[in-house]
Amino acid sequence: MSDRKLLVTDPASDQTLELPVVAGSEGDPTIDIAKLYPSLGYFTFDPGYGSTASCQSDITFIDGQQGILRYRGYPIEQLAENASFLEVAYLLLYGELPTSTQYAEFERDITYHTMVHEKINNFINGFHYDAHPMAILSGVVGSMAAFYHDKLDVKDPEQRELAAKRLIAKMPTIAAAAYRHHMGWPVAYPRNSLDYSERFLDMMFSVPAEQYTVNPVAAKALNLLFILHADHEQNASTSTVRLVGSTGANPYACVSAGLAALWGPAHGGANEAVLNMLNEIGDISKAGEFMARAKDKNDPFRLMGFGHRVYKNFDPRATIIRQACYEVLEELGQSDPLLDLAMELEKIALEDEYFVERKLYPNVDFYSGIIYKALGIPTSMFTAMFAIGRTVGWVSHWLEQSASAHRIGRPRQVYTGATAREYTSIDDRKPSA
Ligand code: ACO
Repeated sequence: MSDRKLLVTDPASDQTLELPVVAGSEGDPTIDIAKLYPSLGYFTFDPGYGSTASCQSDITFIDGQQGILRYRGYPIEQLAENASFLEVAYLLLYGELPTSTQYAEFERDITYHTMVHEKINNFINGFHYDAHPMAILSGVVGSMAAFYHDKLDVKDPEQRELAAKRLIAKMPTIAAAAYRHHMGWPVAYPRNSLDYSERFLDMMFSVPAEQYTVNPVAAKALNLLFILHADHEQNASTSTVRLVGSTGANPYACVSAGLAALWGPAHGGANEAVLNMLNEIGDISKAGEFMARAKDKNDPFRLMGFGHRVYKNFDPRATIIRQACYEVLEELGQSDPLLDLAMELEKIALEDEYFVERKLYPNVDFYSGIIYKALGIPTSMFTAMFAIGRTVGWVSHWLEQSASAHRIGRPRQVYTGATAREYTSIDDRKPSA
């Protein structure tokens, strides 16, 4: 709490209220409005939460005007350049980078928990072969509540930590199993000798008929993408996890809800939508035509992978991924006309009044799909890839909230429906106009 206060006067009653200003360690000042309703009888109205801070958090800092993203104080650029994904996971969960002993112990714990109960594989087999991987992921992760619920006391910090580790460890196993189910391939069990990203690639692409060797370029690229997706403060899916968690629900149910929120095309589903869009545009010569459609309010077409609620200058993750696109394609000896098309769309947008005025820039999802495609990951799996990285953020926020005093999340509304009226019997009712 800072010394600053905001004075609110209600002209109707002539009452004045002092609202305290909450100051974080950095970032914009925030008014604490908790006393507004009890004192003056007013709620606040902020659909989409564009001006609302829902909690205090120590985990991730974003400055949308300056394009800054930091996990626990460390700039995303430094983590992307130097860290392994599990190092970042440890940082997000515990607040500090691990020492080598702590890292070895954490990696061993995660590796130890990567296998799923065999009955979960039966569960996956129950899905139709063409079920969307996000539907499978959300359903199967939710079902883990049934596998572990009896033993889970969410008030016990050790049990919470174990659930968090299980979720980080098992998410890639389930995601890969969803893909294999679609392909009609047998289950690939996690190999403990591999690291987190290598193990995922092995579970995705190895087949019993021949030896599979993980390409280190692919593993390095995945490590980077998982880091960039790991957390992003109170985005829609993380807020969902926190809201569900605020009721004391089982963590697997909370993360299942987070997966459902992530799937939407306005959020994590955008990476799949971007690639579909690039394929639909097809050729650089059509870029101008589609940009015109994106600006036309009568056309539902939007430039997917563009725009962000918080970033109004540039998304630092997009800058890193754009560069990585070139490097990965070059190292894999591939070229992709979709990258040229994406660059052309970005170029047009950066000079176009519509996009400049609205501060619309490429977001994390604009370029990520081009890398996933180069690694052989099918478009329908893109959001599941995002989910693997973001699981760390979800469980870090769930742990943070669970360990601190919190109330159930319960917003109010501005009611716009019918006012009080009398019940009429069915014979007396007339059809409404
Ligand atoms: N293409 C065309 N116009 C756009 C786009 C876009 N991608 N994004 C925003 N706009 C326009 C809106 O139509 C609106 O114009 P108006 O002021 O004339 O009405 C203005 O820009 C502001 O947009 P809002 O929708 O109000 O912005 P909001 O903060 O609510 O939404 C969002 C942000 C959902 C990311 C939006 O920009 C969007 O839909 N982008 C495409 C989907 C996408 O890439 N999502 C991934 C986000 S990152 C992530 O979750 C990982």
